[in-house]
Amino acid sequence: MASISLVVIICVLGFFVAAPSQASPSDHSDNDNDFLRCLSTDVPGQLVQAPSSPSFTPLLVSSIRNARLVAPATSRPPICIVTPTNASHVQAAVRCGRRHAVRVRVRSGGHDCEGLSYRSGSPKSEAFAVIDLANLHAVTVDPHEATAWVDSGAGIGELYYHVATAAPGLGFPAGVCPTIGVGGHFSGGGMGLMMRKHGLSADNVLDATMVDAQGNLLADKKAMGDDLFWAIRGGGGGNFGIVLSWKVRLVPVPPTVTFFKVPKTMEQGAVDAVTKWQTLAPALPDDLSVRVVVQNREANFQALHLGNCSAAVATMGSRFPELGVTTADCKEMSWLNYTAYIFFGDAINAKPLEALLLNRSMPLGRFVKNKSDYVKKPLTKETWDKIFQWPNGTATGQLVMEPHGGIMARISADGIPFPHRSSVLYNIQYVEFWNGTAAGGDVTPKWVGSLYEFMAPFVSKNPRGAYVNYRDLDIGTNKVVDGVTSYESGKVWGESYFGPENYRRLAKIKRTVDADDYFRSEQSMPPLSLSQ
Ligand SMILES: Cc1cc2nc3c(=O)[nH]c(=O)nc-3n(C[C@H](O)[C@H](O)[C@H](O)COP(=O)(O)OP(=O)(O)OC[C@H]3O[C@@H](n4cnc5c(N)ncnc54)[C@H](O)[C@@H]3O)c2cc1C
Ligand SMILES: *[C@@H]1O[C@H](CO)[C@@H](O)[C@H](O)[C@H]1NC(C)=O
Ligand SMILES: *[C@@H]1O[C@H](CO)[C@@H](O)[C@H](O)[C@H]1NC(C)=O
Ligand SMILES: *[C@@H]1O[C@H](CO)[C@@H](O)[C@H](O)[C@H]1NC(C)=O
Ligand SMILES: *[C@@H]1O[C@H](CO)[C@@H](O)[C@H](O)[C@H]1NC(C)=O
Ligand SMILES: *[C@@H]1O[C@H](CO)[C@@H](O)[C@H](O)[C@H]1NC(C)=O
Ligand SMILES: *[C@@H]1O[C@H](CO)[C@@H](O)[C@H](O)[C@H]1NC(C)=O
Ligand SMILES: *[C@@H]1O[C@H](CO)[C@@H](O)[C@H](O)[C@H]1NC(C)=O
Repeated sequence: MASISLVVIICVLGFFVAAPSQASPSDHSDNDNDFLRCLSTDVPGQLVQAPSSPSFTPLLVSSIRNARLVAPATSRPPICIVTPTNASHVQAAVRCGRRHAVRVRVRSGGHDCEGLSYRSGSPKSEAFAVIDLANLHAVTVDPHEATAWVDSGAGIGELYYHVATAAPGLGFPAGVCPTIGVGGHFSGGGMGLMMRKHGLSADNVLDATMVDAQGNLLADKKAMGDDLFWAIRGGGGGNFGIVLSWKVRLVPVPPTVTFFKVPKTMEQGAVDAVTKWQTLAPALPDDLSVRVVVQNREANFQALHLGNCSAAVATMGSRFPELGVTTADCKEMSWLNYTAYIFFGDAINAKPLEALLLNRSMPLGRFVKNKSDYVKKPLTKETWDKIFQWPNGTATGQLVMEPHGGIMARISADGIPFPHRSSVLYNIQYVEFWNGTAAGGDVTPKWVGSLYEFMAPFVSKNPRGAYVNYRDLDIGTNKVVDGVTSYESGKVWGESYFGPENYRRLAKIKRTVDADDYFRSEQSMPPLSLSQ
């Protein structure tokens, strides 16, 4: 009892100490203190950090990957950060939050491109607490069944490592950066170089456990029902509940896979090569994925072949001779080594894989703004000539293009909420990076907005598609009408991420599972009202 009341005092005191100057009485209501007191009865004090704690700011910034988001996060910090070590702590946070009108945001890997898992994108939004799942990162592999259970707080690098070591010959399709959190990544889809062969991460989710908007633990998909289980596999993070753990189907990977990389400058025919790549890459055998990074007037073709070098060189020689791929461009390695190599490059020869794939801390990186598009009709060479001029002057950035096709084109657009399937040739991610100041000055990107405008006629339209995991608040943010997020306001971004049909179905599910709109952010799913 004594330790519990001590916790309350520290948390409450901390709260007033941290933000006294901006605090108006209505900002920091009794609700917040009641919330903290409620938490203290079910969550051990060392798992709740208030802004007064010396570990609060390091914890808050621990998984931020974008320098642009640090100052907004620390200048208006959450009421507290809860770091659960088991499901009951997550349930307590949601129940206390509901009881005392405090919202929670959930963070797994913290890689959200707009930081919505730990900061508010609008200055006037309500106070909230963060539930950080980093402590919940177990991976349990069943090699015989070819499945695994992975907790949301694990990084995808941890997943790769534990799968490949426990079940040689098996792998899992997910993204490229090992510190990405499973929780947010699976919630939004999960694209990586194996998606043409095996689909998105979310396409391979077989079951899950979650805490719903009432604080109930739903132990499996049966408890969720078909609709909710559909919604959590790609319908975006932070909308329907807090997924704690995912059961996934593991996929076969050959003992040897091949990486190759071919750079082409404009003088070496980069524009022609990219023009051809647009229709060629989505039509290659499913075992071969070739993505392109365009930067500094150069196109860098990077590949994964689920097979050996000689077969990759033979396929490229007959289908895409212009690239001139030779065995000298190849590196053969295990699938696990590949997951590290594609991100760290030759550093994998200097550091053990454990240090690379299991290490959850990463350098903060520069100020970044990301946007995305889907391309359904190839762009002309003349258009590419113009795109290659971007970014110019002293600006920096890149375009990353991921080919679809393969199984991505064979899964139906309503199989899961991710809608970008048969008609899509490739995804474009626009990335602008720059050096801002620590205090958060110079937060405005310079060129990526104009390129996005320039691209409008050439990319998917009505609605213009975007990938929810490359979250972009410029597309649109919610408006709250009569205390509930409006369905109309969410259409702008929601139809881009999910397509009109899936957006409507997700909003309907939101009404069923979270009619009060408890899980709310600048781009959270609105509940469809009964009259709509
Ligand atoms: C360096 C970098 C590289 C990337 N590379 C790729 C890539 O190769 N392929 C790709 O597809 N994407 C990529 N992304 C995007 C990434 O997939 C998304 O940002 C993803 O949502 C991050 O998940 P997270 O858990 O790390 O993020 P978080 O910031 O923790 O969460 C993202 C969103 O999901 C919600 N959420 C988090 N956990 C849960 C949970 N357990 N239950 C319910 N909702 C939850 C959050 O509230 C937030 O709205 C990359 C991002 C970065 C920064
Ligand atoms: C969760 O942790 C609490 C301690 O905070 C403990 O009392 C409880 O038994 C644990 N619950 C489970 C399901 O492990
Ligand atoms: C934007 O995309 C780049 C390239 O994929 C990635 O390195 C960067 O971390 C992304 N930024 C954010 C904030 O997601
Ligand atoms: C490479 O793989 C092909 C099958 O894709 C096989 O026929 C060939 O023998 C392999 N070559 C080498 C050198 O292992
Ligand atoms: C994987 O990488 C390690 C170095 O980290 C190396 O020792 C090993 O030989 C590689 N194995 C394969 C099969 O690629
Ligand atoms: C983990 O990564 C961080 C940042 O890159 C680095 O400083 C640290 O040394 C790494 N830890 C280990 C054990 O390699
Ligand atoms: C960069 O190029 C674009 C398109 O050609 C042009 O509109 C823009 O003004 C250029 N910016 C700079 C800084 O040169
Ligand atoms: C920006 O920062 C990067 C990485 O820290 C550095 O390499 C680069 O030189 C800086 N650019 C400018 C224009 O200051």
